[in-house]
Amino acid sequence: MMSNLADMTNVGEGGSPVVSLNNVSVRYPSGHVALAGVSLTLNRGEFAFLVGPSGAGKSSLVGLLVRDVLPFAGEVHVAGYSVHDLPASEVPYLRRRVGVVFQDFRLLQRRTVRENTAFALEVTGAPVEEIEVAVERALRIVGLGKLADRYPDALSGGEQQRAAIARAIVGNPELLIADEPTGNLDPLISWEIMELLGQINQLGVTVLVATHDSDIVTTLRKRVLGLEGGRLIRDEQRGTYHRVG
Ligand SMILES: Nc1ncnc2c1ncn2[C@@H]1O[C@H](COP(=O)(O)OP(=O)(O)OP(=O)(O)O)[C@@H](O)[C@H]1O
Ligand SMILES: [Mg+2]
Repeated sequence: MMSNLADMTNVGEGGSPVVSLNNVSVRYPSGHVALAGVSLTLNRGEFAFLVGPSGAGKSSLVGLLVRDVLPFAGEVHVAGYSVHDLPASEVPYLRRRVGVVFQDFRLLQRRTVRENTAFALEVTGAPVEEIEVAVERALRIVGLGKLADRYPDALSGGEQQRAAIARAIVGNPELLIADEPTGNLDPLISWEIMELLGQINQLGVTVLVATHDSDIVTTLRKRVLGLEGGRLIRDEQRGTYHRVG
């Protein structure tokens, strides 16, 4: 049941932050500096929005957390891994602890919702029975139990995002990152997806959401991390989308 996710997520809790960036800079091969001297901490169970204008560095920060992007300077710790000097052979282990969803869903089109969800665990070599239980639980959490045998092209955008979220949480991640998860969805469905992310957070998963959805951010009054020109210019509890004053 749902409580399993929280129970399992809390195993090994030691009070250390789930995410910790210490003076991190990202510089692309082009020479562009996408992040400059960013330091922040996300503790277990937190929910935070990451906001800022286009090009501010939000996706670069998301990429850092799963080692898609390497820091030019500074330290990145995620789910107990030292990401900045993680050997390539250990990157898959880091990625099992972190679920990610994107604006464009990125589902495998030739696999059903259930198969998309299972695939994330199959590649880890988990036992079949374990995969079945975890997949059904993840599909139940996102509310796709009845649509599990559909292919992505037979789903609405909101349903596809739910499927992507099921895939992201099926392995009981410590951290769920969403990079503009509602960028392709209408306002009502955007709210439903954001509520789902909130429910998953309530199950004990730390959640970071990069978004341009000013309505949602300002209404929910969660922690807001504000990036601008690669710098962290705001870190507010119960923040709004735009800086106040
Ligand atoms: N692979 C890359 N090579 C060179 N520059 C890059 C690369 N990826 C991103 N950038 C640059 O880094 C800066 C930050 O980009 P990033 O995608 O992190 O911004 P963002 O805040 O996610 O923007 P958006 O809201 O449009 O998604 C931008 O100026 C972008 O052009
Ligand atoms: Mg982006």
